[in-house]
Parts: sequence; structure tokens; C-alpha cells
Amino acid sequence: MTPAFPLVPERASTLAGEVDSVFLFILGVTGFFAVAIWIAMLWFAIRYRRRSAADRPPAIHPSVLLELTWTLVPLGLMVVMFVWGARVYFHMNRPPDDAMTVTVVGKRWMWKIQHPTGQREINELHVPEGRAVKLLITSEDTIHSFFVPAFRIKRDAVPGRYNTAWFRATKPGRYHLFCAEYCGTEHSKMTGWIVVLPPGEYQTWLAGGPPPESPAAAGEKLFTELNCVTCHRPDSAGRGPVLVGIFGKPVKLATGDTVVADESYVRESILNPAARVVAGYQPVMPTYQGQVTEEQLIALVAYVKSLQAPAPAAAAAGRAR
Ligand code: CUA
Repeated sequence: MTPAFPLVPERASTLAGEVDSVFLFILGVTGFFAVAIWIAMLWFAIRYRRRSAADRPPAIHPSVLLELTWTLVPLGLMVVMFVWGARVYFHMNRPPDDAMTVTVVGKRWMWKIQHPTGQREINELHVPEGRAVKLLITSEDTIHSFFVPAFRIKRDAVPGRYNTAWFRATKPGRYHLFCAEYCGTEHSKMTGWIVVLPPGEYQTWLAGGPPPESPAAAGEKLFTELNCVTCHRPDSAGRGPVLVGIFGKPVKLATGDTVVADESYVRESILNPAARVVAGYQPVMPTYQGQVTEEQLIALVAYVKSLQAPAPAAAAAGRAR
């Protein structure tokens, strides 16, 4: 049973225990020293108070051992906090490779969510228990913040860029979702629920409702409608770079620099094509700023991501063996 005033929120993700352990350790250490220093201060104030107008206290010769102790013990405690905290931080910020990507777009005043298979939800996210879920978070107006206390995740939704967070839910249930960044008059109403279902029930949930269109399929349509295909052809005869197999790979730029073709780079190249031009190409692409919404951008990025190069025959044969 949960107590009326729990020290920490319910723990419902694999990260929750890790975050709480670091937090409680730091709270314990700082709490202990705050109390110890306060008591010592009081005791010293009374014990060494001025007793007469002409007090002549004896000279003090500091002890090297004492100095070393109160330097090295706090140093050791700080190093423990740093190393432990950094490990948890890196774990929180590196989604596992097998995570399913759910896109989240913040908007005054709602959360628009889409599953990799295309299902859309507003202010609700259904996820299977035990599966790693990576969130690709952005905003179409102002800064919001996607906050699920039970999972110990909080990530800003910033217009113009993609932020990521991930979690693996550990028990079925409904968990509160908040916007944790003041975003206007109805900020406090910008809440929702994460619904964690047993894997079987999640499949049933996915199958309900009208057949959805995946972001990649929607992106493919847009790619034709916006005439991207005329320059980005699958062969190398187009005026723009071939997009097949580039996602996640390093790309050489006209400036000589190299950039990894991730979600943010693809997005930037659609809105501001001249910013980082691929080596060997002219900056002839027009901007699509104002012509595509954040959700259409996500669809286009998903389409580019889906354009994986067919595996070379030799490698495929090697894997088959
Ligand atoms: Cu959105 Cu506060």
C-alpha cells in the first residue's frame, strides 16, 4: 500500500529505481552533514562564547590529520556522487537500439502522439509493458516539457529541434503525464496519461480503430507531393544527394566537415537546406519552411529513415550461414 505522503512517486520504469537510489544517497549525505554542522555550530557557539570583555584564548595549532580528514572524506563522497550520477545520466540518455520510436509533438495545450505503426493519440500514450520506448519530442509553438513522474523522465519539447527520452515500463497501469514548463494560460490543463498494457493487450489495442498510416508511408506520399523525388532520385542522376541508406551514417559536407544524418540533420536540411550542404552538390534546394507542419516533418524524417540500402549479397549470405 502506498503511504498518504510517499517520499518518492510510484516507481514504474526501469530507470525509476536508479534515479531514486542516487537521489536518496545525495539527500542522505547532505542531510547528515547539514544536521551535523548545525549541531556542531550550536555547540561551538556555546562552548567558546566570550566570557569576559578581555578574553585571551590560547593560540591554535591545526592538526594535519584533521585537515586531511575533512578534505578527503568530502572529496570521496563527491566523487561517488559524480561517478554514480554520471552512470545513471548516460543510461537515461542512451535509448536501447531495439526501442520503438514514438513521436510527441507539444502544442498549446495538448500532446499529439504517434506510434511507429501510425496510430495517433492525444494526451494519452498506450505502451506495452517491458518494451523500451524512445520518445522523439518536439513542439510546434512554444517550449513545453514532457514529464512522467512515475517513470522519472522529463524532457523539454523545444520548437525547432528534436529531443529524445526513453523508458521501459515495468508494470501495467495508468501514469500521469504533465507539461512541466509554463506555456500559457492552460498550461496546468496540459496533462494526460501513459497507459501501460500487458504486451498481448497492447497488440489488441493496436488492432482496434481504423487502419492507420505509418509515419514513413505518409512521408513517402509527401515526398512525391512536394516533388522531392525529382531531385532526390534513387539513382545518382538527380540534382540532390541519394537518400537511400544515409540515415544514421556520417555525411561529408561541402565545408569539409562531417555530420551524422540523424533526425535533426534531416529536419534542418528540409527547412534550411543551405545550412549544411553535402559535398559535391550545389545549394540549389529551396526551403520548405512554412510549407510543412511539424507532423509532416516527422513523417518525412521517418520516410528517409526507412530508406535503408539493401544488404549486399555477400553480407546477406554470410548472415544466413
Ligand atoms: Cu505545455 Cu506547459
